[in-house]
Amino acid sequence: MSARGRLHGAIDVVVTEVVELNSLIKRFHFARPDGKPLPAFSGGAHIIIQMQDGDTLRGSPYSLSSSPLDTRDYQVSIRRDDQGRGGSLYLHREVKPGMKMSITHPSNMFALDKRASRHLMLAGGIGITPFMSQTAQLAQMPGVHAELHYGMRSRELGVYLEELASRLGSRFHVYADEDNEQIDYDRLLSSQPAGTHLYVCGPSPMIDLVLRKSAEHGWPDNHVHYEHFAKASSGEPFNVELRASGKTIEVGAEQSMLEAIEAAGVDAPYLCRGGACGQCETRVLSVDGELLHEDHWLEDDEKASGEKIMPCVSRCRGTVVLDR
Ligand code: FES
Repeated sequence: MSARGRLHGAIDVVVTEVVELNSLIKRFHFARPDGKPLPAFSGGAHIIIQMQDGDTLRGSPYSLSSSPLDTRDYQVSIRRDDQGRGGSLYLHREVKPGMKMSITHPSNMFALDKRASRHLMLAGGIGITPFMSQTAQLAQMPGVHAELHYGMRSRELGVYLEELASRLGSRFHVYADEDNEQIDYDRLLSSQPAGTHLYVCGPSPMIDLVLRKSAEHGWPDNHVHYEHFAKASSGEPFNVELRASGKTIEVGAEQSMLEAIEAAGVDAPYLCRGGACGQCETRVLSVDGELLHEDHWLEDDEKASGEKIMPCVSRCRGTVVLDR
């Protein structure tokens, strides 16, 4: 991706609709300019939306919230993050119907396990979005049991409540903090028939709690699925030497290391751009300063060794030399 380039394999789309769902969340619709269907995807998939925000080129991951059965458009529902480095703010402020944009092909790190006959889904806040595409997919799979428990700060900030209620009926449960309603994780996780698969998406503390409790209740790891994307945060600018490419670049305050590498014209692998898939793992040759690891991929001892970094979300204080 050059400074004004594009993500490799990107698809050109046009914004066909922007819908304000509540005071914080908007839904964006993307379609091909020629109206042909977009590539197929499965429930839980995400795309990377490329954003040219002034001189800054960003690529941020968002879950698809539309139905995999209808690829005339892709829909993503995005919460405005006033503390973020600007991706959601750009989308909320600048993106209007008719705009041309680029997105990547969908990838799925949060797919339904098709061997399961029961799915227990736990969503927190904007973590509801992958469950929208998953429940749409499940609606076409009669005989498969799915129940969804959706926690939110207030009902005003909840989205798709009516749609989910009509899809899932009494298997859809809403919990609002403002009404002192909480998901009873211990009850749910201790009362599922063997063979149930568990899915969780929401804020990090919620995911951590559910993972800890599922382990306490003896859930096998391969029955527990979670989408735990870290955010590429802003921070002090720093320098990166790309030894194999013979380039030294500066990573701006609002830019991720991966975006800076791409802007320098150096190809770098990625899949999630959220510190969760391992694709962008890069060897650190030396560091003058401190590595600031933000990913959920590397083990603690790998982070402590200082030998690897995930440039999609992690930063550095000082200068780092990478084998890239
Ligand atoms: S792209 Fe997935 S961990 Fe960096």
